[in-house]
Amino acid sequence: MKHSLSDIKALIQDRRTIKPEDFKPRKVLDDQLREILNSARWAPTHGMTEPWHFVIFQENALIDLGKFMADTYNHATSSEEFNQKKFDKLLNRPQLSSVVIAICMKRQEIEKIPEIEEIEAVACAVQNMHLTATAYGLGGYWSSGAVCYSEEMKTFLNLQPKDKCLGLFYLGYPNIDWPKKHRKPLEYKTEWRK
Ligand SMILES: Cc1cc2nc3c(=O)[nH]c(=O)nc-3n(C[C@H](O)[C@H](O)[C@H](O)COP(=O)(O)O)c2cc1C
Repeated sequence: MKHSLSDIKALIQDRRTIKPEDFKPRKVLDDQLREILNSARWAPTHGMTEPWHFVIFQENALIDLGKFMADTYNHATSSEEFNQKKFDKLLNRPQLSSVVIAICMKRQEIEKIPEIEEIEAVACAVQNMHLTATAYGLGGYWSSGAVCYSEEMKTFLNLQPKDKCLGLFYLGYPNIDWPKKHRKPLEYKTEWRK
């Protein structure tokens, strides 16, 4: 055995989605953040395109992010559909976290690698971040939705037309008991052929 299987199993199973509403005010340190982002860089990447790109929001930039998301929702929503609770959540949520990371996929110019594989590589990078966060006792939350996928978000993040924002990743110390989740047994998810 090259690594401790019991350690890696425990880490994988302990990784949990914890939302910013359940974070403590305690800040995530920049050194921790760098460690987490460095783990992201080690995700697999077809053709070594390394398509991940992260925009890190801290301090006042969290306020800007909230304002941008609430405004974008407001402009995209008719008055009949407008939901004040949703608007308030988009506006205020980023500030419940000391750091929010925009998860982006930068499309390679020549588009040799299929787009789906570039998105898959970025998803692997997010898993690396989330596992590293778990090692620090941090909860993470990958949040997606219409605002994240909007053209406005691309402009806000200085992305090019063929790049994509895949969501926001919130990080923080939990103010709750570490959540428990379950998964369906392997039998439901596999078909063995011999
Ligand atoms: C690509 C992706 C997007 C997600 N977007 C959301 C989201 O918008 N809202 C949400 O509540 N959870 C979102 N999640 C998190 C899931 O709800 C969460 O992973 C699931 O409940 C399992 O919990 P666990 O991560 O603690 O195992 C997303 C997860 C992934 C992989």
